[in-house]
Parts: sequence; structure tokens; C-alpha cells
Amino acid sequence: MSKPKNVWKIFFKDKKHGGHRCSSEEFLSLEAREKLFHLDGGKTLLDFGCGSAELLTYYALEYEQLVGVDFSPSMLEEASKRIEKKKCQNINLILADHETLWKNLDSSFDRITAAGVIQYLTFQEIDTFIFEASKYLNKDGKIVFFDILDSRLYPLWKIGVFSRDTNVFKILCKIGFEFRTMISASFKNRPKDILGFSHNPYTIEKIANKHGFKMTYVQSMYYEYKYHAIMRKT
Ligand SMILES: C[S@@+](CC[C@H](N)C(=O)[O-])C[C@H]1O[C@@H](n2cnc3c(N)ncnc32)[C@H](O)[C@@H]1O
Repeated sequence: MSKPKNVWKIFFKDKKHGGHRCSSEEFLSLEAREKLFHLDGGKTLLDFGCGSAELLTYYALEYEQLVGVDFSPSMLEEASKRIEKKKCQNINLILADHETLWKNLDSSFDRITAAGVIQYLTFQEIDTFIFEASKYLNKDGKIVFFDILDSRLYPLWKIGVFSRDTNVFKILCKIGFEFRTMISASFKNRPKDILGFSHNPYTIEKIANKHGFKMTYVQSMYYEYKYHAIMRKT
């Protein structure tokens, strides 16, 4: 059964949080610190799929001007509240998706980033995203996709291989459970996995190279089954 075009838009339309491993400010600030390390400077930043600005408000402490983009009205509503609470006057929010975003921009950026978002795009959509993003990237800029689901590690994480108290019986139960969830989602025409698609880093690298970027990838510090793709123009 094929994925309806708006399946993720529908899924996120009333969601309010980015689904971080822990929602405490202490954890979010550590996650943001790791990401800021990889972003490594710049003055202006575009955060695609900013969600409720859980990371963006931390980035705002290090950048002069920021734009957060998301296609979920409820996420942006939460983002506005958070931005006001944290008194971040340097953030603008735009309601748009990976296709409509570009016509809403009137400036280019030193950093274009997306955290936990790329898994909701197909390879073709990622290809087009990088192509469009490169037109809005300043000289020496970087595109950084954080927390992409690694297709080699994600299945192992799903069946509990990384859990502290795992054993063969638990793994077999999880495989059965995952299989049942996938079948039932197929019948209901829902996403088979609410975390989206996993992508092999070498395939993302191929797309990046095609558009003139050199890509390095590093393991995510806080999610053992995710990686970050860091792209710089060659
Ligand atoms: C897992 S959340 C991560 C949110 C945020 N980046 C963070 O780390 O807290 C994924 C976000 O991407 C947004 N999103 C997914 N696909 C999108 C698309 N095609 N266009 C715009 N936003 C999208 C969702 O609405 C959601 O807010």
C-alpha cells in the first residue's frame, strides 16, 4: 500500500513536542550543545522542522538571526509560546513544508539545519531539499541534518539489542510485536513507523556529493541508532 502524500502532515498536525529522549531542560540543553558543536559558528541559521523550538531556543543564544520552519500548526503554536517565554527576539517562524519553504525566504543563511526531520522525507525529497537549500546557503555555509535514523542500526535498536536487560526471548517478542504493528498500520494506511524512514549514510552522501557538497557523518551522542550528516560546499 503506498504512502498517502500528506501522511506526515496529518500525523504532525496536532503534535506538540519533538519526541526527545527526555524532555527536561537539562537534557535539551545538552542535546543543543552537541548540535552547536557540529554547527560550529555562523551568524544566521535556518532550522527546518523546528517543531516546538526545543532546540532552536538554545541555538538562539549563539546566533544573531534565526528562522524556524515547520508544517505543523500545533508545533509552531508551542514554538511561539516557548520563544516568548525564553525571550528570544531573534527568531522568526514560518509555516511551510519542504516544497513551499523556499518561496517564503528573503535571505540566505550561514547554517541550514534539520534535527529529527530527514526521516520524514523520501530520497527524492532529500535530493530536492539539498538542491534548493544550496541556493540559500552563504559562502562557507553548512547544511547539517541531525539525528537521521541509521538503516544499519535502527532495526537492532527497535528489537531491543541496545537495551540494558535484553535477552533472546525479549528480542523475539519485540520482533513479533513490530511485525504485528507494521501489518496493522498497512491495513489502516497509517505510517508503518512513527519515526519515519531510516536512511543509509552513504546514500545521503551520494546525494550531497551530487550537489557539490562534501559530507562527513558522525554518530549521534544521545541516540545510539542515529547519525548526523554534516555537509559543506567543496
Ligand atoms: C521529530 S520532530 C523534531 C522537531 C525539532 N527539530 C526538535 O528536534 O525538537 C519533527 C518535526 O519535523 C516536522 N516536519 C516533518 N516533515 C516536515 C516537512 N516535510 N516540512 C516541514 N516540517 C516537517 C514535524 O512537524 C515535526 O515538528
